[in-house]
Amino acid sequence: MKNIKNICCIGAGYVGGPTMSVIAQKCPEINVTVVDLNEKRIAAWNDDNLDNLPIYEPGLAEVVEEARGRNLFFSTEVDAAIDKAEMIFISVNTPTKTYGIGKGMAADLKYIELCARQIARVSTTDKIIVEKSTLPVRTAEALKSILVNTGNGVNFQILSNPEFLAEGTAVEDLQNADRVLIGGDIDTTEGTEAVQALVDIYAHWLPEERILITNVWSSELSKLTANAFLAQRVSSINAMSELCEKTGADVNEVARAIGMDSRIGPKFLKSSVGFGGSCFQKDILNLVYIAKSLSLDEVADYWEQVIIMNDHQKRRFAANIVKTLFNTVSGKKIALLGWAFKKDTNDTRESAAIYVADYLLNEQAEIVVYDPKVTEEQMYADLDYLGTRTEEENRKLLKVVSDPYQACEDAHAIAVLTEWDEFKTYDWEKIYERMLKPAFVFDGRNLLNLHELTKIGFKLSSIGKPIVEEARKEPVLAV
Ligand code: UDX
Ligand code: ADP
Repeated sequence: MKNIKNICCIGAGYVGGPTMSVIAQKCPEINVTVVDLNEKRIAAWNDDNLDNLPIYEPGLAEVVEEARGRNLFFSTEVDAAIDKAEMIFISVNTPTKTYGIGKGMAADLKYIELCARQIARVSTTDKIIVEKSTLPVRTAEALKSILVNTGNGVNFQILSNPEFLAEGTAVEDLQNADRVLIGGDIDTTEGTEAVQALVDIYAHWLPEERILITNVWSSELSKLTANAFLAQRVSSINAMSELCEKTGADVNEVARAIGMDSRIGPKFLKSSVGFGGSCFQKDILNLVYIAKSLSLDEVADYWEQVIIMNDHQKRRFAANIVKTLFNTVSGKKIALLGWAFKKDTNDTRESAAIYVADYLLNEQAEIVVYDPKVTEEQMYADLDYLGTRTEEENRKLLKVVSDPYQACEDAHAIAVLTEWDEFKTYDWEKIYERMLKPAFVFDGRNLLNLHELTKIGFKLSSIGKPIVEEARKEPVLAV
């Protein structure tokens, strides 16, 4: 059981794809097969042109190029890969439930359960099953129950190995992880052996002191806790941003000042239009659901406030655009720069941009979007998913362009929603000349240089900065 020669990963998404690519790169003697039901996605992973990989992550194409065809394979033949592997990672999606009990809060474990049943049906040899998807605490127990009761009498060991990679830095996060967490049945010899087998894989490139071993429940809960703490920091600084705008403080200066306290630290203190991504909201809702189901109402309310604050931040950003544009955006062209939930990814799940666009469309704005990595198809899919208006209306009211200058031409206002580096390098004088006046810019990422843009003539409104009419003096603290 201990010697792993073949790994199978079910799910070739944002977690499974990069994680397995790095494992294959670092463990050339292990065959890694990533399987998915989605044929289009697998074809894209196999595309000769590395620009067509289904996921954009800096450095990923190079890793795939090195390992693909050597010991990294992408396939739709799920059963064959399961049967051959000694270790199976489950990296399928666990979205928030959209129906029934726990709707809007609990994680939907449908895909996980289907995987477990498939593994049980197909397996003819002992397997180590590794939970990679973010799962509610005690999912391993459910997995075990399905595997043991429906399997062919083979032995399964279940490990929890939550993924902490952040999108946009996935390859770096994997290659140089702060820590790897492995939860297993450490009270038994078989469980300890299974844990060791996974430790041996990560030990190919990470020092052993960064590999933490816990029981399964601690590992599962640590993942939810880490995301809840990170999201809470963002909501905390966002709460301060509103106070800053009203009082004349500058949220960047406040963040810098508190971040230099080594107990607080400087990371995750960037005020923004609101956090997005596939994890933060989902995991907190999940935490809230678990707490409520255990009658821990104060615990549930405490964490729910992080989401309430985030929703408020997105809404107040959009409302401020309407208010500033003389209380109406009806028929006005508004350019959105950025649609991804953060820079350096083409992922748009829960992106603040979707909600800001929806709000402005309800106010009858005409929206033009530019994002360097997100496709038009994805943007419409995101809006259609909200179900606020018909697909035809979404396509009529929101246009997608591939040139940022075209997006801004004749616009009443620009809203920066993703912190793409390239936005800083634009010829803002040229953009100013081609916009309607007053030329409003709403910087939801504190990305642009307030001083310079104000000098050009823009009316710039940045999250967490006092609203200014005239060029502000250089900031007291360099940020
Ligand atoms: C997160 C966790 O960081 C990662 O460990 C976990 O595995 C998955 O969830 P991810 O969602 O990829 O990763 O991105 P992250 O960098 O955490 O950003 C999440 C959101 O918070 C983004 O919308 C980002 O723009 C926003 N954010 C982050 C801020 O608004 N301010 C900050 O200071 C940091
Ligand atoms: P994550 O961010 O967690 O990686 P994604 O949605 O990007 O989530 O990826 C999950 C992938 O899992 C999808 O490509 C989906 O097609 C795949 N998937 C879901 N269920 C199964 C299954 N039973 N067998 C194979 N692939 C699956």
